[in-house]
Amino acid sequence: MAFNMKLSLKKYLNKICFLILLLSFFIPTTYHAQDGEKLFKANCASCHNPVKNATGPKLQGALEKWTAAGEEELIYEWVKNPSELYNSGTSKLAKEIWDWSPTAMTPQGHLSKEEVTAIFSYVDSYTAPVAAGGGAGAGYVYEKPDESVSYWWWIFAGVLVIVLFATMGVKRELDSALEEKSGIEVDYKRTFASSAHEWIIRNWFIFTLMIISLALFAGVELLGRGFQVGVYQNYMPSQPVAYSHKLHAGNMGIECKYCHNSAEKSKHAGLPSVNVCMNCHQMVVGEGDMANKDTSEIDRIHLAAGYNKDKKQYNLDENGDRIEKPLVWNKAHNLPDHVFFSHAQHVHPNTANIDCRQCHGPVQTYTLGRVSTIDEVNAYAKTDEGMEKGLIQLTKPLLTMGWCIECHNKKEVDLTRPGYYEEIHKRLKNRPDINNMIFEDDKVTVRELGGWECAKCHY
Ligand code: HEC
Ligand code: HEC
Ligand code: HEC
Ligand code: HEC
Ligand code: HEC
Ligand code: HEC
Repeated sequence: MAFNMKLSLKKYLNKICFLILLLSFFIPTTYHAQDGEKLFKANCASCHNPVKNATGPKLQGALEKWTAAGEEELIYEWVKNPSELYNSGTSKLAKEIWDWSPTAMTPQGHLSKEEVTAIFSYVDSYTAPVAAGGGAGAGYVYEKPDESVSYWWWIFAGVLVIVLFATMGVKRELDSALEEKSGIEVDYKRTFASSAHEWIIRNWFIFTLMIISLALFAGVELLGRGFQVGVYQNYMPSQPVAYSHKLHAGNMGIECKYCHNSAEKSKHAGLPSVNVCMNCHQMVVGEGDMANKDTSEIDRIHLAAGYNKDKKQYNLDENGDRIEKPLVWNKAHNLPDHVFFSHAQHVHPNTANIDCRQCHGPVQTYTLGRVSTIDEVNAYAKTDEGMEKGLIQLTKPLLTMGWCIECHNKKEVDLTRPGYYEEIHKRLKNRPDINNMIFEDDKVTVRELGGWECAKCHY
């Protein structure tokens, strides 16, 4: 009798363990997909309000609008990557909405289709609370990418461990009770460790499964953190003025080098001084076209330049010097100090002659500068524009060492550029080892010219 009870109890406990294991693969994702409100708040609310126009247009009815235009599938493409859809030219609505705001929508490729569907159903069922305070679209406020998935994994792992320990504890108590009842002498010295050991031996299958899932979990976490996400990708610091690349470099087509004018000459591309802005913003002050727009951002440029837009002159101190308060831009890209990188070597027409977008992505669709992601770069490289600029596909996250050397291994050096032969000659004189590699094929990569040598990139 007691034996039977024990057996069914064991079966029961095994079932629980197995169920928990199975569930652990599904719970976080299903939880996530259902919570449209949470997803909306984490990913879209910095720019969108369901029922009011903000930095982005109101989202209620957007799905209906796209569906009515026969672009039901394309709206998901839009959310995944607006500029890619716009550039592909396949969507009429993407073209229509593109110029809605000088702000570019951040691509939301990390969301699954189910998650975006959940957002749309939240937005479409949303009713504004009575006497809601404004607050919508607080402008250029950006939230960090949603990290709740891994957060839920951790909580779940914690619960799993607690349940396991509790189950084992209860089982031990029950075992002792049963043993006592059936007259077997109870070994009170039996420790938790020894019974855990027994449990493992008896339930080796479940234990192995547990170890495997733990290893998988740790592996996915590590991969996600260390390799896929990239430490720097998507980093966008706040800035003193809500400048928009989309408006200036995109819509108005101002050349990158107009503002980043040391890119060809020096190590640094440089960030523009306020005087560069004043070349235009002495005139573009919030009249005419901009009469109905909020000009507080341009007022900040004037404050920095010491310009009085009503008097149309600069404020001078007693010595006749301008009273300035320089704009201090925060850098998004920061390589560690032990790395040497020079823009001139990469962008000057007589050196690598690489387009900025190969390393910075489609900046003409961004608002503030930020570190691009390799997916954005690859998507742009596939567009007609990207191919025209000769961009290549890479796989490693930007700014990592893997990224630098992957390109140095793939990118061919332009053999027709002026001064090339003298330079090669100089470089190869002392390097018979490299010499052999070069003549394996008729292409010359950066690596073959020594672009993988540690000392080239490390001080
Ligand atoms: C950085 C600001 C920003 C974020 C974050 C953002 N959007 Fe947008 N969104 C915009 C802007 C701006 C537009 C208008 C297009 C333009 O001017 O480029 C837009 C347009 C759209 C449109 C097209 C609307 C229409 O009427 O056709 C949809 C749909 C959309 N966004 C969905 C989303 C979803 C879903 C999220 C969150 C997962 C999101 N957006 C996050 C700024 C943003
Ligand atoms: C081969 C890749 C590559 C190319 C091509 C490239 N950049 Fe960069 N850029 C970088 C890296 C790497 C950094 C980070 C440098 C650092 O932190 O020292 C950077 C930093 C910057 C910065 C921050 C300020 C600075 O100078 O450090 C700006 C602005 C910039 N790049 C603009 C441009 C522009 C404009 C072009 C095209 C004319 C361009 N970049 C081409 C890789 C590149
Ligand atoms: C070649 C001329 C030119 C230069 C240089 C220029 N701008 Fe502009 N900027 C414009 C014009 C034109 C507009 C108005 C566009 C419109 O809204 O119709 C504008 C608009 C703006 C706006 C308002 C955007 C909005 O929300 O409507 C800001 C902010 C701004 N510029 C910041 C800057 C900063 C910062 C610099 C320097 C780094 C700069 N601009 C350099 C021409 C220029
Ligand atoms: C009208 C001036 C202007 C033009 C044109 C312009 N930029 Fe910028 N760029 C800025 C300003 C101002 C900043 C600093 C504020 C910010 O991060 O947006 C900046 C920042 C950046 C950054 C981030 C650098 C860092 O590490 O903080 C990159 C990368 C960049 N620009 C690339 C480009 C590329 C590529 C182009 C051409 C497609 C371009 N810019 C055109 C003014 C300009
Ligand atoms: C998109 C491709 C690409 C990426 C990404 C790239 N490089 Fe390069 N790099 C080149 C090319 C092409 C050359 C060769 C220039 C020439 O023709 O001399 C080069 C040359 C160099 C050189 C000079 C090598 C020599 O033989 O003198 C250094 C140093 C360098 N890169 C450092 C870096 C670092 C550091 C990074 C990462 C932060 C990086 N590069 C990322 C393409 C790239
Ligand atoms: C083409 C340029 C390039 C070459 C060649 C290169 N590195 Fe790096 N290395 C980098 C960059 C960029 C980083 C910074 C990556 C980061 O911060 O994630 C880095 C980081 C490192 C780090 C890690 C330090 C840290 O901050 O985490 C070590 C160690 C290192 N390199 C060693 C080497 C050795 C050894 C070689 C020669 C076999 C080498 N590197 C060749 C560009 C290069």
